[in-house]
This record gives sequence, structure tokens and C-alpha cells, in this order.
Amino acid sequence: MKIKVYLLLFVAIVIGILGLNLASAQKESNISARTQENLSIAMHGEAFAYAKYLLYAEQAQKHGHPELARLFEETAKVERLQHFAEEAALAGLVGSDADNLRDAIKGESYEIDTMYREFAEQAKTRGDPAAADRFEEVRSDEMGHREAFKTALAKVQNELTATKQDVR
Ligand SMILES: [Fe+2]
Ligand SMILES: [Fe+2]
Repeated sequence: MKIKVYLLLFVAIVIGILGLNLASAQKESNISARTQENLSIAMHGEAFAYAKYLLYAEQAQKHGHPELARLFEETAKVERLQHFAEEAALAGLVGSDADNLRDAIKGESYEIDTMYREFAEQAKTRGDPAAADRFEEVRSDEMGHREAFKTALAKVQNELTATKQDVR
């Protein structure tokens, strides 16, 4: 049950982050809207498979099946380092450090202000207190992430300004 909640959280986070990121990447890409959409769906599947297989590997390890654990781990690596990464390259997911930070802040903000807020409320009203607490706890972690990204963005922007002044 606990594993399912974590997987749900992971998928929700990836959807939030990728959804926002792809919307901005789409402008610069020559790929059709349908293919962008399909890339997004495919990346969600690959990211989920990656996370899921690592949990399955832990489980196999616990049950004394190291070979099965390795199979899951090796497959997870392919999902993340090849399939996800190659599709992300096509989709134009990754930009400059500043762009990536702005996108990350947008993603964390969505989770904090909309997604986890609503998920926690809905879990509470539907009688799922454990899930409600988990959503709230994760939401407060996301606030820390957003702050760290904001600090990092300010630093990157300062460095960019300093570099421009050096050139003059
Ligand atoms: Fe795959
Ligand atoms: Fe986060």
C-alpha cells in the first residue's frame, strides 16, 4: 500500500514537471504537436517504469533473489538512461541552467499550490488520513525544493550578469 502511494506521488510529480516543461519546449521544437504529446506520454511511462523497477529490485533483494534484483536494476537503467533520455532529447526537455531552474520552480509551485493541496484535501474528505498526511508532508518538502531552486536561480542570474559586465 505504502509503495503504491509513493508510486502515485512519483507519477504525479513527473506529470507536473514534464507537463509544464514540455509546454515551454514545444515552442522551440519542429516536432508536431501530436508527436510532442506522444513523447510526453512515452516519457511518463519510462519514468514510471524506472522508479517501479527499482522498487521491485528492492523487493527481490529482500526476498533473497539477487539475480532478479539485478534484472530489474539493469532494465531500470535502460528505461532511464536510454529510453527516457533519448525521448527527452527529441522533445527538447532540457534547456539552459536558468531555463531548467525556472521550469523546476514552476513544477514545484504547481505541486505546492495546486496538486498536493488538492490531493491532501480530497484524501481527507474521502477518509484516507494516511494519504492526506503523506501528501501534506511531501508538499512541505516541495517548498524546500522550490526555495533551493530560487536561490540557485538568483546565483545563476548573478553569474550571467557578472560575465556580461566582464565582457564589456
Ligand atoms: Fe522502455
Ligand atoms: Fe520536488
